[in-house]
Amino acid sequence: MTVDTVHVDLPGRAYDVRIGPGLIARAAAEIAPLLHRPRVAIVTEETVAGLHLAPLQDALRGEGIESAALILPPGEATKGWPQFTRTVEWLLDRQVERGDIVVALGGGVIGDLVGFAAAVVRRGVRFVQVPTSLLAQVDSSVGGKTGINTPQGKNLVGAFHQPALVLADTSALATMPARDFLSGYGEVVKYGLLGDADFFAWLEDNGPRLRDDDSALIHAVKRSVQMKADIVMRDETEQGDRALLNLGHTFCHALEATTGYSDRLLHGEGVAIGCVLAFETSARLGLCAQEDPSRLRAHLAAMGMKTDLADIPGDLPGPLALVDLMGQDKKVVDGQLRFVMARGIGDAFVTADVPREVVAQVLADAG
Ligand SMILES: NC(=O)c1ccc[n+]([C@@H]2O[C@H](COP(=O)([O-])OP(=O)(O)OC[C@H]3O[C@@H](n4cnc5c(N)ncnc54)[C@H](O)[C@@H]3O)[C@@H](O)[C@H]2O)c1
Repeated sequence: MTVDTVHVDLPGRAYDVRIGPGLIARAAAEIAPLLHRPRVAIVTEETVAGLHLAPLQDALRGEGIESAALILPPGEATKGWPQFTRTVEWLLDRQVERGDIVVALGGGVIGDLVGFAAAVVRRGVRFVQVPTSLLAQVDSSVGGKTGINTPQGKNLVGAFHQPALVLADTSALATMPARDFLSGYGEVVKYGLLGDADFFAWLEDNGPRLRDDDSALIHAVKRSVQMKADIVMRDETEQGDRALLNLGHTFCHALEATTGYSDRLLHGEGVAIGCVLAFETSARLGLCAQEDPSRLRAHLAAMGMKTDLADIPGDLPGPLALVDLMGQDKKVVDGQLRFVMARGIGDAFVTADVPREVVAQVLADAG
């Protein structure tokens, strides 16, 4: 079994992202060097616990590492104050010390919530991400953004808190439901679109067989993590380049808000549709070739993914109302909405220079 490593070289907070099959089974050997005493606190959720908690705890026990687990409900609604408070108090009840390690086992919901809890318990304890969803492996477990949702919006409360280690066990992805896997794939495609045309072309060839081909899956996860790590190393706290990772997200956040963060639209599905809309807008502004949005649509369709507003079940508000919702985005700076646009596949950039009427027209045409 080969395990690949992407090193996130942040001064004073450097860590490895380990990528490969069977990493949960060998978690003890991976985590042991970080421990001051042989015990960890694991936080997970019901669905993931049913599939992957026992193997993790068995592996730890096999090496003499004691573990206790808190099992939260699954789903985005968990990422709020009530379960956050519960997690923080459970960690304190477990007498987690500054030198201990907290393990986040699950998708992006668990990673974000547990990372934030680890950031505030005793003013910061170290944590290990064991991401089990494709989205979490390629995106949310790397880069140190942690947080929760509030009634005012998504991810509005949180902290930058880098993990001490990320164990991306690609064999854990085998149990993912098809729709959630494809939603995570939306973020994989995003990396090709924003900065690596060759990777996008590779995905066009290999994307449809990722679930059946371990080495292709590992390559896709590794390339995505490498791209995220490179951007985070250049701009940890999003003063510049890190905003490129938001390709498609301004559109996506408006669509998620209007569909109530529900099953009507999963985050990665919104990202994929948002990327199409960003490329349509770029083409409309003469920034990229007219063929680029069509090529992206064709790839997403070949993957069996949603590509247009019309693919979202139920009614959506009109284009102008959607543009207004985009104005609520965290990416608004001094009242100006900033977009990630593209000069072509693999060449994205950030700009505030996108007329509202053009965005509204693109949305009207995509409806
Ligand atoms: N911190 C960041 O940089 C960052 C980046 C992108 C997204 N996010 C956040 O990530 C969250 C979305 O992450 P997600 O899509 O992983 O959501 P999630 O954690 O809800 O997982 C999606 C679904 O897959 C299930 N699941 C996870 N792993 C599984 C497995 N191995 N087998 C079977 N089922 C499994 C979960 O139970 C859930 O139903 C959002 O809250 C988003 O805001 C954060």
